[in-house]
Parts: sequence; C-alpha cells; structure tokens
Amino acid sequence: MFDTFLNGEFYRSAEAAVSVDDRGFLFGDGVYEVIRFYNGSFFELEPHLSRLARSAQKISLLLPYSLQKIEKVCYELLGKSKIKNGKLYMQITRGAAPRTHQFPVQAEPTIMMKVSAVNEDELKEKQKGATAITLPDDRWNHCDIKSINLLPNILAKQTARSQGYHEAIFVHSEKITEGASSNVFAVLHGKLVTAPASNRILAGITRSVVIELARAAGIEVEERFLAKDELYQASELFITSTIDEIIPILSIDENPLNGATVGRITGNLQELFQKKLSTLNKYS
Ligand SMILES: Cc1ncc(COP(=O)(O)O)c(C=O)c1O
Repeated sequence: MFDTFLNGEFYRSAEAAVSVDDRGFLFGDGVYEVIRFYNGSFFELEPHLSRLARSAQKISLLLPYSLQKIEKVCYELLGKSKIKNGKLYMQITRGAAPRTHQFPVQAEPTIMMKVSAVNEDELKEKQKGATAITLPDDRWNHCDIKSINLLPNILAKQTARSQGYHEAIFVHSEKITEGASSNVFAVLHGKLVTAPASNRILAGITRSVVIELARAAGIEVEERFLAKDELYQASELFITSTIDEIIPILSIDENPLNGATVGRITGNLQELFQKKLSTLNKYS
C-alpha cells in the first residue's frame, strides 16, 4: 500500500527518504498543511491549498507544482492508499542545498505528502469534552504562516499534556490568541467570540467553516481578541482544528465552564458540523 508521495514518486512511507541537507530538516524552512478526508472525499481541499500557496508566498518559496497538480496528486495518493477516512499531511520545503542561512542559489523544493487513518472512536471520545490551560504565547509575529517551525507550539502542548490537559491556550499581552494546534471560540452573552484573522493566529479552515455555520444558524459571531479574564466568564468554550473538528472545553485553568458540560451552542455547532460532513460524496 502506497501512503506517501515524495518529489514525484509514490512510496510506502518506510521506503521514502529525504536528504540530510534538506532545509526542512536543517532549518525548519518550509510550510505544511493537514487536510482531512471522509469517506474518500477531501474536506475543504481548496481553502487548504489556497492557504498553502499564501504560506509559501510569505516565505518566498516557489511551489514546485501548480495547485491543480497538487490537488491531482492528493487524490492519486488517496486512491493508492485505499484509506477512506483519514488525514493527509503535506510539507513543502526549500529543498536540499549546502547549509547556509540565506536562500540557496539552486535548490529544488521538496514536496512530500503522507496519508494515514484517523481513529474515529478516539475522536468521538475527545469530542465529549476536554480541558485546557493558558500559557504565554511566545511565538513570532507571523503566526498566519503555516510554517513547519513549531517549537513554541510543541513545548506548550507538551506542558499541557504532561499536566493532564488536552490543549494549551496562548495568551499574548493579556489577550487570547489561539490554541497550540487549534483556534479558540468562547460564548459570551450569547455571542460567539474568536480572535480575528491576523498575524497573531493561524486562521483555521475549521474556524472559517464554524463561523459560516454559526452565522447561517443565526448565532452572532464577533471576531475580536478575548481578554484573558473573559475566558473565565465565558458560558461555553471550544476549540477547532482539522484533526479534532470541534472539541468542547469543559474547564480552563481548573475553572469549570457550564457546569463542566457541553453547552447548547457548542453542541449545536458540533451537530451542524457533522451534518456538513455527511454531505461529502465519495469521489469516483
Ligand atoms: C496554531 C494552529 N492554529 C489553528 C489551527 C487550526 O487550523 P485548521 O482548522 O486549518 O486545522 C491549527 C491546526 O493545526 C494550528 O496548528
């Protein structure tokens, strides 16, 4: 079973190899995307590919293929893998070249994709509710770029997980930005509040879908930074991501929210999200 695509060829992942001189390996000089597929169809493929193009452009990385060709390869890989429900990880780096900080004069970008199955039972369990803690957001000023440089996110997630929490929620200048690998939504006075798309967050594709579903359902959405204190006053809190979809946060920094149960608006959005997913057709 081929589950990996690397620079034009399909492989079993254990047989695919990248040069030790690759700038992704040496510097984290690259960008990535994670895309879910359900019942053999990609979810929101076009917005993911547009974001990939924006991330690449922001680090002056020329994509090795057109977006049309990348889309075609995504479907080819899905077909070869025979996996019906899973995720596709895609990474593009500036390629292999002698190690210098400045861009190499000559290097072919490395493009890699790998598909893997998602454990739906584990996901459903998480979607019943999880916990989070706040941690300082010590990332750079370009969080809108989906860069493979993820050290601050990794360290924050590890701190959270090692203390038994599912997610770390970042606080920058007393304002909530996002989670270590998710966007954050709060319900305050019946309105849904989430950080605006800016250089301080990665504007999630799931975030956009949730905002659209909420507005269509008549729920008012405010895109503004929440003050840290507002988190504790929220009647509901949830996080969104491609991998986790919508996860209710039942306690933040050990403060229970909504009596540590899934709130009405969160539950409603989870249902609407599943309904949207159920309309995905099998590709032919
Ligand atoms: C920092 C960060 N914010 C937000 C998200 C959610 O983005 P999406 O919904 O596109 O997966 C992710 C996903 O990995 C992330 O890493």
